[in-house]
Amino acid sequence: MSTAHDRPAVPAEQEALDRPWRRWASIGVIGFVFGSLVLGFWVVPESQVPGLDPWATICRSLGVPGYARSDAPPAPPPSPAVPVTNVSWTPASRSLLANASAERGSKIAAEICVACHGTDGVGIAPNYPNLTRQSAAAIYKQLQDYKSGVRTGVMAAVMAPMVQGLDEQQMADVAAYYASVPPRASRPASNVPREIVDLVKIGSPARALPPCDACHGVNMSGPEESPVLLGQSPTYFEEQLLAFARGERHNDIYGRMRVIARQLTPDEIRGLAAYYAPPAQMQ
Ligand code: HEC
Ligand code: HEC
Repeated sequence: MSTAHDRPAVPAEQEALDRPWRRWASIGVIGFVFGSLVLGFWVVPESQVPGLDPWATICRSLGVPGYARSDAPPAPPPSPAVPVTNVSWTPASRSLLANASAERGSKIAAEICVACHGTDGVGIAPNYPNLTRQSAAAIYKQLQDYKSGVRTGVMAAVMAPMVQGLDEQQMADVAAYYASVPPRASRPASNVPREIVDLVKIGSPARALPPCDACHGVNMSGPEESPVLLGQSPTYFEEQLLAFARGERHNDIYGRMRVIARQLTPDEIRGLAAYYAPPAQMQ
């Protein structure tokens, strides 16, 4: 009876043939392990891609959810059970917007809004938004949200009283009016770093960040209420992203912007604001 112990001896010529293979296989395995250690503990952690936490990325790629960047702002406290918004895109709200009158809206703008947004849609201060080129759907949703109180924040307290007396038709009309005002910027700034342009156009798959263009593109491919960012005042722009990141603004359906804003670094937020800003003489 033969066992594993008394296997016939390997012929000397075969032994000689095996030796170099064993040597190279061992070198290969040791090299692979060493390379992985260098890559995992030194190259990747040292590479310092802003906003990219290697551990968060590795966990995410392994399907471990909920691991946030270690320097991300703290998770906002759970908000009280208020609805995100009362606005939904139904045949009724679409037809209200489709049949709104920019002409009637221009009268409301001249009576109420002009003091702070001008009739040309340009905010009177850097932390007042520009409404120029905004889509009617985006403006209408924000007006509804100020009226119902779901858009919160320090500056929201200035805006909210202005819409309390408006009904749905008037909100749709004034939205149609500002949507018809010509734009302030026709192209984004060209002097921002490459990484910022990449965030806008391709996002960052390693950080689970979709490109801004996916929703804020000039041709509006995203959710109906996505505002146009091009030409927005940089101060207002930065404040909105910070408010989303802190959870102070929480009227974005499905929390889309809160999730994205929490991932962005302060430098990226500044760079993105500069990318979309109107030309200097128009700010
Ligand atoms: C007293 C000044 C004031 C008046 C008058 C005013 N607004 Fe505003 N508006 C603001 C401020 C300040 C903000 C930014 C608030 C914030 O940060 O939430 C704002 C925000 C907005 C936004 C949100 C824009 C965005 O990009 O999300 C819209 C839309 C808007 N106003 C439309 C109007 C319309 C339409 C009127 C007239 C019916 C009007 N506002 C009257 C001060 C004013
Ligand atoms: C999945 C779609 C989506 C993507 C991707 C996205 N956004 Fe948004 N964003 C929205 C929507 C929808 C709103 C409006 C939220 C609301 O209803 O109040 C918004 C609002 C904003 C606002 C507030 C504008 C205002 O006028 O108040 C800013 C600033 C903004 N986004 C910046 C960005 C930037 C920068 C990126 C890329 C890093 C980005 N967004 C990517 C959907 C998106």
